[in-house]
Amino acid sequence: MSKTKQSHILVTGGAGYIGTHTCVELLEQGYELVVVDNLSNSCEYALDRVDKAAGRGVTYIWADVTDFHAMDSVMESFNIEAVVHFAALKSVGESVVNPLAYYENNVAGTISVLRAMAKNNIKKFIFSSSATVYDPKGKMPLKENSPLGPINPYGQTKLMTEKILHDLYASDPTWNITILRYFNPAGAHKSGLIGEDPNDTPNNLVPIITRVAGGRMEEMTVFGKDYPTHDGTGVRDYIHIVDLANGHVAALKKMTEPGVHIFNLGTGKGYSVLDVIKAFEKASSKKIPYKTVGRRKGDAAESYADPSKAKEQLAWQTKFGIEEMCSTAWQWQKKNPLGFKRPQ
Ligand code: UD1
Repeated sequence: MSKTKQSHILVTGGAGYIGTHTCVELLEQGYELVVVDNLSNSCEYALDRVDKAAGRGVTYIWADVTDFHAMDSVMESFNIEAVVHFAALKSVGESVVNPLAYYENNVAGTISVLRAMAKNNIKKFIFSSSATVYDPKGKMPLKENSPLGPINPYGQTKLMTEKILHDLYASDPTWNITILRYFNPAGAHKSGLIGEDPNDTPNNLVPIITRVAGGRMEEMTVFGKDYPTHDGTGVRDYIHIVDLANGHVAALKKMTEPGVHIFNLGTGKGYSVLDVIKAFEKASSKKIPYKTVGRRKGDAAESYADPSKAKEQLAWQTKFGIEEMCSTAWQWQKKNPLGFKRPQ
């Protein structure tokens, strides 16, 4: 098959939460996109919504990133300029129970994508990493050179992949690699067309609050009230999903210099669990019933970014605050009470 002439960005995991929002922002910036996704935690319908939100669509190909031949064939068929690699498993608890699936999908999957890239002479790669790679006992705010030390297999897969990327660049300095370490993504696109839609019971704070507000869950649990924080509950750096998506656009535009470039994507501000509950109650005019229990195993008291490197080098900064994260998450829930599932 002859290659398409038009240059494309390959987005793996483009049907997921961060993937769909990034696709919309990239499409709005004029990029042509090929999305590869195995729909393990997403659905193809989400890409129809991307089309509606952006006014134009992506080329979708069902494939699993661990399948080298499938990845090679996509890269042979399209003129791929860069790869934005989201496809991965992301539940910390599940990674403890089933570590092999995490190493297989997240580490071996990335190796398969990188091998296909090398074979097709594509050398620009943006990697979805996580603030989980930092040592949870580190000093706040976290800088890109803060001590590393993930405490669960999920975090290990992210750090291992980062190490592989450094070794790859050392072996061939024409690679241009950007590692983005995400803090806690929250919220949804302003259109209400796309948002977070976990297949199973959610584990993360904002999707849980959203379900309680929407009546899909009766009450929520606050894990821990004795942390050394302003109200005793855990503090995190919640970043609006559209700001996070735009971090990828900024990184892609900046891919002029080969190297391994690492950036925190966060707001630099920390909010406690109770702060988020209050902000959501205000945005939704709903009461969020909760009970407080002991700490969740493996949780840090606080985690927030120093995002100044991304601001200086990518000319990127967050625009939205906790209010917009809650109001857009709530709008998404109201418009799509069952997520992307169409009404029966
Ligand atoms: C979690 C993962 C992290 C992953 C991130 C993705 C763990 C230990 N860490 O981060 O690796 O990158 O999700 O967004 O799972 N909370 C409650 N009640 C709940 C749920 C959460 O009180 O029902 C609290 C937590 O204790 C924490 C805060 O809310 O203080 C945020 O939790 P969560 O949304 O799960 O994110 P992280 O734990 O920061």
